[in-house]
Amino acid sequence: MMSKALVAYFSASGVTKKAAQALVETIGGDLYEIIPEVLYSEADLDWRNENSRSSLEMKDKSSRPAIVKTDANVKDYDVIFVGFPIWWYIAPTIINTFLESYDFSGKTIILFATAGSSGFGKTVDNLKGSVCDTAVIKEGIRITSKQSPADIAKWAKGLKL
Ligand SMILES: Cc1cc2nc3c(=O)[nH]c(=O)nc-3n(C[C@H](O)[C@H](O)[C@H](O)COP(=O)(O)O)c2cc1C
Repeated sequence: MMSKALVAYFSASGVTKKAAQALVETIGGDLYEIIPEVLYSEADLDWRNENSRSSLEMKDKSSRPAIVKTDANVKDYDVIFVGFPIWWYIAPTIINTFLESYDFSGKTIILFATAGSSGFGKTVDNLKGSVCDTAVIKEGIRITSKQSPADIAKWAKGLKL
């Protein structure tokens, strides 16, 4: 039997959003969007510009972009999927903001990510400090631009939750 799952995601340009939707369609559970207080503009996302908002945030490991305060009710779920685009080889720091906004003690967090080509890299290490010791963070699946939401669905079908 599957435990009750929350699928939380941040998506700046819609790719991770489609992956999150495919995940919920496959495993059930509830979808929750992590929304930045200030949305990312195209200029903010320009990784070629070392002074763009995303470049500055990702260079500063202590940056914590504010999120819209709604309640994800994390306490009601056993498993929380957290999805995001890979930025500079790891999760965007807004994911640290999200993890630090709730109590994940005793919870299992399964990461899913979309990227041009990079893997999870040191993503887990960079997120561990944002949850308490009793929370477990696992690498789930990372899909590249050559894959589709169907690949997420296929992976999710094989999960024993
Ligand atoms: C600021 C920024 C940094 C990125 N860094 C990487 C990276 O290090 N490796 C990679 O493969 N893709 C990188 N990408 C590409 C995104 O991970 C990819 O396009 C992702 O699917 C976008 O998801 P979204 O539409 O949900 O925001 C980066 C994109 C942005 C905007």
